[in-house]
Amino acid sequence: SICYLDGQYLPLAEARVSPLDRSFLFGDGAYEVIPVYSRRPFRLEEHIARLGNTLAALRLPDPHSAVQWADMVREVVARNAWEDQSVYLQVSRGADDKRNHAFPAVIRPTVFMMSDALLTPPAAQLDSGVAAVSAADFRWLRCDLKTVALLANCLLRQHAVEQGCAESILFRDGFLTEGAASNIFIVRDGVMLTPPKSHLMLPGITYDVVLELAARHGLPHEVREILEDEVRSADEIWMTSSTKEVLAITTLDGRPVGSGRPGPVGRQMHAWYQDFKN
Ligand code: PDD
Repeated sequence: SICYLDGQYLPLAEARVSPLDRSFLFGDGAYEVIPVYSRRPFRLEEHIARLGNTLAALRLPDPHSAVQWADMVREVVARNAWEDQSVYLQVSRGADDKRNHAFPAVIRPTVFMMSDALLTPPAAQLDSGVAAVSAADFRWLRCDLKTVALLANCLLRQHAVEQGCAESILFRDGFLTEGAASNIFIVRDGVMLTPPKSHLMLPGITYDVVLELAARHGLPHEVREILEDEVRSADEIWMTSSTKEVLAITTLDGRPVGSGRPGPVGRQMHAWYQDFKN
């Protein structure tokens, strides 16, 4: 595939970054994952705006304008073969001449983009739903930032995979936060519930779309803090992300969620989402 690195488009296998790059040494960088349907980036402006928020919080000057970012994303999409892609975009604080925690005096950010075929959940998975486990959310207190320092998320996802599950559902102080790499929605008595945006979860682009679709179609919903017990006794649980879209979770810690099958509200939301993205 073709990637972008610091001003050049080149085959991914030929891209080279310094081992002194701060993303390698410190996880010092921001990223985005942008879904592309039929060569059209989905919610591109929102992804670029979220990147801007992360960069500002990291005190990393944004090397490009929103218009430049959009052009670069479209160029990477054009240079790759797939109709549906997931574009990965990363900005790091670049390399110094030696390892030093404090920022370099002169910062030359490393800008990298690559793309892959977008693999949304296959029909069989949509039909059965996926399994999840619960886990304590031991991440830092700025989970609203999309940084490449993802060790906790990797450990939490691996924890799920080692139990034959697709996702870890995270709880902090008895409340639902999100998944290891997704946001979480539940349904109780026909009402869709999800936690409010805070420093404790990533403000998902898919999360926003799902809330917009609920409002547009008159689906009863509430954005509020959700107790762990409310998740465990929910009628439905879904995970949402740019690559999973809306995916039902049908077992939690080995116990069935509701009927143990994807529920009617989630199926409806998935259908609305498919309609909307095209
Ligand atoms: N992850 N929460 C976390 C911790 C995430 O990593 C993600 C996305 C989401 C969902 O956000 P969005 O709807 O904007 O994709 C929530 C991406 C896909 C990833 O790291 O691959």
